[in-house]
Amino acid sequence: MIVTIDGPAGAGKSSAARALARRLGFHFLDTGAMYRAVVFMALEQGVELDDSDALERVAAGLDIELSDDAVLVDGRDVTRAIRTVAITSATRYAADHPNIRARLVELQRAAAEGQDFVTEGRDQGSIVFPDAECKIFLTASERVRAERRYHDLMARGETVTLEEVLEKQHERDERDATRPIGALIQAPDAVVLNTDGMSPDEVVDRLYEIVQQHK
Ligand code: DC
Repeated sequence: MIVTIDGPAGAGKSSAARALARRLGFHFLDTGAMYRAVVFMALEQGVELDDSDALERVAAGLDIELSDDAVLVDGRDVTRAIRTVAITSATRYAADHPNIRARLVELQRAAAEGQDFVTEGRDQGSIVFPDAECKIFLTASERVRAERRYHDLMARGETVTLEEVLEKQHERDERDATRPIGALIQAPDAVVLNTDGMSPDEVVDRLYEIVQQHK
């Protein structure tokens, strides 16, 4: 069974999807981590991010291994390194690149083939797994999403203000919505869950119920 969870930045998809997968005994695929990993390695290799051919070569050569809670690229653990503010804003170079998207979509489909998976991203229910048995669109208001992300970043020791987080989130929302390929689209058959005012546990409980209704 494939469960897709799509939604805007900061809706709490990653942690909710991971917890849901654990509860269901399913594998978990964090597809945003793949886009982040491409950009991270390109920067490590000194590649200019706006050199689209060079970026594509980096993506084509990478061995990305996603376990349920770690991201390994060419054998190196980049789980934390790909979550900085700098990587978050640079990831658009990979996400906006049609050929890189095509390669990562291929890897996502191959990973999920014949297995029980919770997969999380922007285009999972709309493009990557249009036949998924259960599609969820997880969202929250702009303010709530920014507050959550702000607290996450502070907990990780980054120095940012809430206003900066709101501004960057707004830019990312725009970009996610208008990307020519792989834009954030709510699949017509997705169940929408707005998590404003819900605790992380309540979100996972509700997601679990939704999945049970689609079994
Ligand atoms: O979910 P995230 O913040 O880790 O995603 C990082 C970036 O990658 C985000 O700007 C949107 C993009 N992305 C995408 O285009 N398609 C996906 N399936 C997942 C993420």
